Amino acid sequence: MTKHLRTALLCTAFGLASGWGAGAGGAQAATIKVGVIAPFSGPFAMVGKTFKEAIAVYQAEHGTTVGADTVEFVFKDLDQANPAQSKALAQELIVKEKVGYLAGFFFTPDALAVAPLIDEANIPAVIFNAATSAITEKSPRYVRTSFTLWQNTVPLAEHMAKQGIKKVVTAVSDYGPGIDGETAFKATFEKAGGSVVDTIRMPLKSNDFAPFMQRIKDSGAEAIYAFLPAGPTTLAFAKAFADNGLKDKGIRFFGPGDITQEPDLPALGDAALGITTTFNYSQSHDSAKNKAFLAKHKELFGSSDTVTFTSVGAYDGAHVIYTMIQKTGGKSDGAKAVDAVKGMSWESPRGPLTINPDSRHVTQTIYLRVVEKVDGKLQNVEKAAFADQPDYGYKVGK
Ligand code: PHB
Repeated sequence: MTKHLRTALLCTAFGLASGWGAGAGGAQAATIKVGVIAPFSGPFAMVGKTFKEAIAVYQAEHGTTVGADTVEFVFKDLDQANPAQSKALAQELIVKEKVGYLAGFFFTPDALAVAPLIDEANIPAVIFNAATSAITEKSPRYVRTSFTLWQNTVPLAEHMAKQGIKKVVTAVSDYGPGIDGETAFKATFEKAGGSVVDTIRMPLKSNDFAPFMQRIKDSGAEAIYAFLPAGPTTLAFAKAFADNGLKDKGIRFFGPGDITQEPDLPALGDAALGITTTFNYSQSHDSAKNKAFLAKHKELFGSSDTVTFTSVGAYDGAHVIYTMIQKTGGKSDGAKAVDAVKGMSWESPRGPLTINPDSRHVTQTIYLRVVEKVDGKLQNVEKAAFADQPDYGYKVGK
């Protein structure tokens, strides 16, 4: 099939099926659907649950209507990084479910896979997590409310150099965000006078980390910088670090905060104590907005113990989608919807956010945190704040 024909078919299907808002005039009440693609089953099922719950908190606070239009979220399960399946689900959401917006996306490859579709269908995709810088360069329809590896890693590498640390080994999952983390760390840390003595890339699906632990020991590094996608993977890696004696040997453990997300801390136990991370959200962040967010979550779901960075990615993503709908009067124009939120600023449970008009990624405060026990509970305790951090990786080298 030629590209032209494929485009024509998609447009026809989209045109016939389109359930966008109230149509050209915006006068009639309509239901605007938002398709959320995320893991709801398998090892990363927790992510989908945090997205869904955070959206429910947002809708409990703000209602389910914007103007005359009702906003309905439709959830699709994608249990792992699987770009072909992500594209198929996005197509189904656009053509059959008639969604006006796409959202979610935990894994980078799943977010990247929908770029041609959102361009062709002129639909915004609001990314709640996937954190490789290049994603928002692939389509002008992407807006991202999470973080990037560059954004978290630059302040961390600078902090480590200031601590007098000289020799570090990096250990990352071998795909988009891991490579970004490694690149950002090496560039920043070496510029600040440190040296990266080994760069370890681990297959995304590894669960036996003992050989990598041996390599870290052999490298002679004083500290590690580690990134793996949050969930069972990070848990197994952090446990292996302690179980293989690296912690006892005095090797210091640093990384973006994916490695110590709050829902994993009870299972990590004392092995997590002292791990130092940079991240955009900590459950213990001390602000009225965060306290209100956690309280509402607890009221709706009985506990706020599972609230984590994916929760705020989705909560703020819902806010962006509501704003897009409000500012475009529910009209069917993805380009206008994205334009409407460029430069938008608001207060999130994590702190102040602004959508950078060029990168369409959130500029935000990145916090330096250390895992400590507070009143018997392991927490990421904030020690310093780096305000107004952009996506340092946007168009790097281009
Ligand atoms: C990603 O694939 O972009 C990703 C997944 C999990 C994380 C961070 C980034 O914790």
